[in-house]
This record gives sequence, structure tokens and C-alpha cells, in this order.
Amino acid sequence: MATTRNVNVRGAASPNGLAPSDPSAVDGCAAESAAAGGQLRTEPDYLDSIRLGDCVTLMAELPPRCVDLVITDPPFAIDFKAARTNYNRTGSRVIDGYSEIEENDYQAFTNAWLSQAARVLKDSGSMYIFSGWNHLKDLLIAIDSRGLTTVNHVIWKYQFGVVTTRKYVTSHYHCLYVCKDDAARKFRPYARFDKDAKNGHSGSAHYKDKEDVWEIKREYWHGDLKTPTKLPAEIIRKMLAYSSDEGDVVLDPFLGSGQVAVVSKMEGRRYIGFEIAPEYYDFALDRLESGRYRIKEQSAGNADREQAALL
Ligand SMILES: C[S@@+](CC[C@H](N)C(=O)[O-])C[C@H]1O[C@@H](n2cnc3c(N)ncnc32)[C@H](O)[C@@H]1O
Repeated sequence: MATTRNVNVRGAASPNGLAPSDPSAVDGCAAESAAAGGQLRTEPDYLDSIRLGDCVTLMAELPPRCVDLVITDPPFAIDFKAARTNYNRTGSRVIDGYSEIEENDYQAFTNAWLSQAARVLKDSGSMYIFSGWNHLKDLLIAIDSRGLTTVNHVIWKYQFGVVTTRKYVTSHYHCLYVCKDDAARKFRPYARFDKDAKNGHSGSAHYKDKEDVWEIKREYWHGDLKTPTKLPAEIIRKMLAYSSDEGDVVLDPFLGSGQVAVVSKMEGRRYIGFEIAPEYYDFALDRLESGRYRIKEQSAGNADREQAALL
């Protein structure tokens, strides 16, 4: 049984592309139309849907202001094909197909996708955008020139960077927390810890959790199929908790393994996603439809809970 509604089969767009089936729903997700003799509530095709293709083209088919939260990890313009066996991975289990951007095209590419992402974002919405340090300046320029506000510059510290002998080991990513309207944006300060909750050292748990350096472990899926750059579920959960509510619409224009859509679904959010590489799109679709999620690092109890939540 397919666990997603309106999942578009590869290459087969809905008759109207991603446009809402109800023309009255051009602005925003709430699509309500009068039908013969009464009120009929309809739902746009693009909700709980992922599509294969270029995200700039596909986002252009979405109506303005229909997304509550963007969580995304665009290509970094580095050679992942060369790095696919890094981190002690068995190369044959790492799915090929990752689509990279040429260095010289990176600024124009960033401007193009960010313009579309900003257009579809609600005024109360926000974005979390991951970046390596090598092209961070392109992203910051694109954010500023689109009139977006950078609220926080989060550092994600992960374990096991690539070993070096002539320079320091890169063991962090940047993640920019960005919004359209700083007064309107959603932020739920006690979503994960109560105001009075203490951490192990008698300090404030919510304060500690809201510091802007996040030490979160990567997940290793030993023996399972994987893509080279999968985000840990925990980092996505944290962003969802602070910056969205149940039922909100979460967009990831660069799905990769589908992790943002999968975790959003597990956490009771609606999702929209795009991926240009057919192998990755198929992988993400398979995960969403089958409800399969594998985390070796977690206890069996948690893995079962996550499996059940997705099904
Ligand atoms: C860094 S990865 C995303 C990883 C993802 N966050 C995950 O957890 O698996 C970037 C992805 O963007 C895809 N991509 C590159 N250009 C694209 C485009 N124009 N439209 C859609 N996807 C694109 C790549 O194929 C790659 O899978």
C-alpha cells in the first residue's frame, strides 16, 4: 500500500503539473471551492508529493506562499563522485547519480533556486539552508540580494570528517536560518524542552538546545543502500520542532535520499520535494511508499517507533 497520497510517478506529472486542481487556490495551500449546492474542500496535488526534475522549473509551478518551512541541503559544488567511498563506506552500496553544479555556475544557480524558494514561502515561514564553507559566500550574497533576513548562523558539528595531513579536518557544516518577515516568522521556543527543564548539569535544557552550535551525529546505515550526503533525522526533527507545527507544509527542493520528506511525514507535517537524479528520486520514493527507514545507531525500540510512525 502506498503510504503517500499524490506521489507523482516518475516523469508523469499530474495533468496540471503541480498547480492546484482548484483555480481558486492560486495563493496558499488552503483550497476551498464552492461546488454544486455546497462547500467542497479540495486539496492541491502538490501536497505530500515528490517529483523528478530540476527544482527551479518545478518550484515555478507551485503557487506563491504555499510553504511553511524549507529545509534543504543544496549541492556544494564539490566532487562527490570522487568522495563516494569516504567515511569507510562500501562504494557499491552508495547510490550513484548525484548531480553537482559547476563552480562557475554556482552563484547563478543559487540565485535561481533561492528566488523560487522565497516566492513559495509564506510570510510566517522560514528556511534552513545547509552549506559547506567553500560556497557560503554565494549563498549569503543570494540571501541578501533577495531581501531575506538571516536570523541565525548555525554550525552543525558532525563526527568523522575526512582525515587530512596538511590542513585541519573539516568537521562542520554551516546552516543558515533565514526568514522573509522577522516579525511574522514562527518560532516555538519550548517545543523540545519546558521552560523550567534542566539538563544534566543543572543548566537550562531549552537554553542548551537553542545554542547555535549543534553537535549531532551522522547516521551510518551499515549494510544498507545509501546516498553520499544523507542528513541525520535528529537535525531535521529539531528544525521541524522549533519552526513548524503539525500539518505545516515542508519543502525540500534537493531531496537526495528523501530524508527531509521522510522525517517531515514521520513528524506529522505535509511535504513537497524535488530531485533531479533518477536514482535518488527512486530511492526517496521507495522510502516514502514502503515506510522503510533504517537507523543502526539507535536502539531497536526507537527504530521500531520510527518505522511504525512512518507506516
Ligand atoms: C546534498 S544532496 C541532498 C541530500 C539530502 N539532504 C539528504 O538528506 O539525502 C543535494 C541533492 O540535490 C540534487 N540536485 C542537484 N541539482 C538539482 C536540481 N537542479 N534540482 C533538484 N535536485 C538537484 C542532487 O542530485 C543531490 O541529490
